[in-house]
Amino acid sequence: MRKINISIVGTGLMGLQHINAITKSNKANLHSIVDISKNALNLSKRYKVPLYSHVRDLLKAKNLDAVIIATPNQLHEKHTVSFLEKKIPVLLEKPIADNIKSANKIIKSSKKNKTALLIGYHRRHNSIVLKVKKIIDSGKLGNIVSANVLCWLYKHKEYYKEKWRTSKGGGPLGINLVHDIDMICYLLGPIQYVQAFTTNKTRKFKVEDTATVSLIFKSGALCTLNISDTIVAPWSYELTAGENPAYPTTNQSAYMIGGTKESLQFPNLKNWFYKKERSWWNKILAKDDIKKKDDNTLINQINHFADVVTKKIKPKVNGNDGLASLKIFAAITKSARCGKKIRL
Ligand SMILES: NC(=O)c1ccc[n+]([C@@H]2O[C@H](COP(=O)([O-])OP(=O)(O)OC[C@H]3O[C@@H](n4cnc5c(N)ncnc54)[C@H](O)[C@@H]3O)[C@@H](O)[C@H]2O)c1
Repeated sequence: MRKINISIVGTGLMGLQHINAITKSNKANLHSIVDISKNALNLSKRYKVPLYSHVRDLLKAKNLDAVIIATPNQLHEKHTVSFLEKKIPVLLEKPIADNIKSANKIIKSSKKNKTALLIGYHRRHNSIVLKVKKIIDSGKLGNIVSANVLCWLYKHKEYYKEKWRTSKGGGPLGINLVHDIDMICYLLGPIQYVQAFTTNKTRKFKVEDTATVSLIFKSGALCTLNISDTIVAPWSYELTAGENPAYPTTNQSAYMIGGTKESLQFPNLKNWFYKKERSWWNKILAKDDIKKKDDNTLINQINHFADVVTKKIKPKVNGNDGLASLKIFAAITKSARCGKKIRL
């Protein structure tokens, strides 16, 4: 089967990762890049592809099958809709948009134009995550009682030179925690209530640098999410999954899922259980999974996107999934502002 031709719109931090994944995929070709930055010229030379400085110029180009939008969140609606209207399928980086109104417009345009939209929650293409989902759904852990998710990492000064990262939506809730929200909902189902606290005490930007979030799932399970981009620590999915070569990997875990029969930690896959009677007075045992890392996640995502385009299979993460995590994100910021528990 012929490879599909993909253009990358926005070749910053994430766009570069997509270019890299495309070069390793046997289902996709890099068609071109679109960016307003001067650096993009070097990229276009390195990969020997055309560079466009405006989306409207790419829309006139030939042999384009699909695009990846990796521009700042505030531009997602404008850029995505312009391609959907021309019936060009889009892999849109997360979050779907920086506000719910824009997200709805994107979803509406995808439906109206009958054109596929895949949201870039790439963790769902990780084979470890798929394994975790299977274990939870099999009932092996018993009833899920509670979960604990840590996302503690330290972002360097250079990262914050981009102005959009210090304004609304550019903080660790919008950049990192939305991934965790998408994943915990994928694993444990829909959320009913959220309560959150945020602070910007350390970095003093307009956006938060740290947050704690409590969740109640419709199933009755509870969860705490604890995030900060100003803590030196190894416990975050980013630093433990080994998905993105930009982050050196630690051998720690970021997720703990607690059930009445067993508990499970990952990405460093480990089950905890009792051999005899379940009792805190007995020795608790641990079983390690041999395959702990999947560094092909972004390539898996590109291959899935190619299948969405050519075989018309359903996107694993659709616009409504993107909207659901955005609504939870909005409820988290609302709760932090008003100090109340928010029902979803
Ligand atoms: N999936 C992930 O793990 C992940 C990780 C990081 C970022 N992201 C998402 O990717 C997107 C981009 O984030 P980033 O960190 O790469 O940002 P970035 O600032 O590094 O890159 C954005 C790029 O878009 C370009 N750009 C800006 N306006 C443009 C325009 N009008 N037309 C064309 N190009 C334009 C910029 O020049 C820049 O090169 C965001 O939505 C972000 O949330 C996802």
